[in-house]
Amino acid sequence: MTKKLKVSKRSKFPPFMALDIMRQSTELAAQGADIVHLEIGQPSTAAPQKVNEAMAVALRETGSHGYSIAFGQSALRKRISQFYVEWYGARLHSENIAVTVGSSTAFALAFLSAFDEGDRIAIPNPGYPAYRNLMMAMGLEPLLVAAGAEQGWKPVLSEMEKWERLPDGLMIASPANPTGAVLSYSELADICSWCDSKGVRLISDEIYHGLAYGLRCDTALNYTKNAIIINSLSKYFSMTGWRIGWMIIPDDLLTPVEKLAQNLFISAPTPNQMAAVAAFDCSAELDNHVQRYAQNRDILLQGLPASLTEGAAPCQGAFYLFADISQYSDNSADFAARLLAERGVATTPGVDFDPIDGHRYLRLSFAGSTADMHEAVTRINSFIASLKINAA
Ligand SMILES: Cc1ncc(COP(=O)(O)O)c(C=O)c1O
Repeated sequence: MTKKLKVSKRSKFPPFMALDIMRQSTELAAQGADIVHLEIGQPSTAAPQKVNEAMAVALRETGSHGYSIAFGQSALRKRISQFYVEWYGARLHSENIAVTVGSSTAFALAFLSAFDEGDRIAIPNPGYPAYRNLMMAMGLEPLLVAAGAEQGWKPVLSEMEKWERLPDGLMIASPANPTGAVLSYSELADICSWCDSKGVRLISDEIYHGLAYGLRCDTALNYTKNAIIINSLSKYFSMTGWRIGWMIIPDDLLTPVEKLAQNLFISAPTPNQMAAVAAFDCSAELDNHVQRYAQNRDILLQGLPASLTEGAAPCQGAFYLFADISQYSDNSADFAARLLAERGVATTPGVDFDPIDGHRYLRLSFAGSTADMHEAVTRINSFIASLKINAA
């Protein structure tokens, strides 16, 4: 008989519900169900054409497909540094850029290089669940800073000053997932200078830059040299599965991050790095996607009942509507499960993003096709109508 083996305590964090729901909805679709996918934050479009063409060329260069250095190929790092000049008027050395396996591994590198076990990192709530899950797995303590309806959906610095001890780090994302809240330039500047003056390490997740409706986003790099800045080709660039992200590393963290990257993943996939250089010259194609997201956003905001949209988060950026379902349910997991089972609309319960108030919210991703948004509106409205009839 085999003795029971140990499973780590550090891995006992909650599941990433959006991915669990994607698995369920994919299984239902495989059984023939007609599912509208609003659960995952990923563009329904392919990588830009020029990237696919560059990949075809890269695949022929079979002699260049070995590991790259841990921080990535120099051509890509240089192109990323040029992108900062073009987008933000910011100058940085390509030596401060590390190419990572999506932004997700950049979080791991950031947390492991800048913090020790037991350190406390503030994260806005609601927020992206992987931040807190990864922190917990690494023995870090995520501290939730309220960033809900009462706070205008943005983290308020004075909240942290009320704490007995300031946090060791602060993680921000603007545009934010799941709320779509966008920090103004002055709000971002205030956060950067607050972190610098208090000795709090800032990590700025800028993955949704390029996806803001009527607003522009600035990079934390324009306000501080101490922040770890993380971005990726997954969202604006429509390349989720390519797993190419990057981080801008302050000088004091260069060596720790390099050693960690060498040991964690050696290098990001090399052919993908070769092709990724072309991504930064595809704005015409990519801006068309942004226009579609803006249209999708309007379809949801105008087509769904006011009961869902009036108390929703601002939805100024990214591609999410964090809808208020409190008139119908105080159990977003149950609401999402019924919406999937009864109308074939896959969404993510708010509790994935907010352990405190998330039971009242549902995240709808509008990264899909416009036709899917119209279909989703019809199905969600019919679901809401059935709830009203049952309640009457
Ligand atoms: C805020 C945020 N950061 C990071 C990621 C992960 O992205 P990547 O594909 O670059 O690992 C996501 C994915 O949804 C996200 O919403």
